[in-house]
Amino acid sequence: MMPKHALTVDPRRRAALYNERFPDRPPLAFTDEWVTGTWAIGACWKNSNEIYGAYPRGYLERVHAMFPEARRILHAFSGGLNRMTAARAAWPWVSESESKMEDAVGPPRRPRWDGLVLGSDLDLDLVDLKGAEDGRAPTWQGDILEYCQLEQNSARFDLILADPPYSPEDAEKYGVRMPNRREVTRALAQVCRPGGILVWLDVVWPQHRKEEWRTWGQIGLVRSTNHRVRLVSFFERTA
Ligand SMILES: C[S@@+](CC[C@H](N)C(=O)[O-])C[C@H]1O[C@@H](n2cnc3c(N)ncnc32)[C@H](O)[C@@H]1O
Repeated sequence: MMPKHALTVDPRRRAALYNERFPDRPPLAFTDEWVTGTWAIGACWKNSNEIYGAYPRGYLERVHAMFPEARRILHAFSGGLNRMTAARAAWPWVSESESKMEDAVGPPRRPRWDGLVLGSDLDLDLVDLKGAEDGRAPTWQGDILEYCQLEQNSARFDLILADPPYSPEDAEKYGVRMPNRREVTRALAQVCRPGGILVWLDVVWPQHRKEEWRTWGQIGLVRSTNHRVRLVSFFERTA
C-alpha cells in the first residue's frame, strides 16, 4: 500500500489565518489534517465582475487570507477577473492606492512596492478560453490544458485557484465544451510545485489522482436562497 502523503500545509494554521482575518464570521474548524466550515457570503447583489458565474464578492479575500505567503498564483478559468483585482486580493499590502496599483499591475510599467515587483517576485497568470470581446481579461487566452502543456511541467505555482463551468448547461452558456475535471486536475498538477495548493470551486469534489493531490479541506459556500450551494475543495500537491 502507498504510504499516505504527509501534509506540509498545516491545516490548523490555515484555518487560524482565516479566523483571525474574519473574526465576525463563523470560524473554520480544523484538525491537524483537515479544515471544514461554511462561508456564507450573503446576498450581496454584486459579484466581483459582470460575467455569468463570476466569483461572489469576498471569495478571493477569504481564500487569500489563508495563503498570505503565496507569490506565484494561477487563476484557471479566470473569467472576468482581471489582473488588478486578482493582485489586490492576493497582496493587499502592495496596493497603497488604486492609481498606484494600476501602475503596478498594468504592463509594461512595474514599479516596486515594499521591494516586491509584480511580474518577477509576484507572479500572476490568469487563463481563460475567452478574451476581451467576451468580457474576460486573461493574461493568457486559450485552453487550460494547453496552457499547462506549454508550461512543460514548470511546477511553478504556489497557489492555483480554479473555477470551472459547473455543468454542461453552464458550459453552453459560456459557449465552451464542459471540461473534464480529471484531465484538468492532472494538468494543473504539472504546474504546481510540490506542497503547493489547489483551491477548486465547484458543485462537486473534483476527480483527481491521490498520487498527485491530497485533499485537506472542504468548505461549503452559500450565497443566498435560490443560489446553488458550492464546495471549495483544498488540495496539496503531493511531492
Ligand atoms: C465559472 S466561470 C469563471 C468565472 C470567474 N471565477 C470570474 O470571477 O469571472 C468559468 C470560465 O471558464 C472558462 N473556460 C471554460 N472552459 C475552459 C477551458 N478549457 N480552458 C480555459 N477556460 C475555460 C469560461 O470561458 C468561463 O469564463
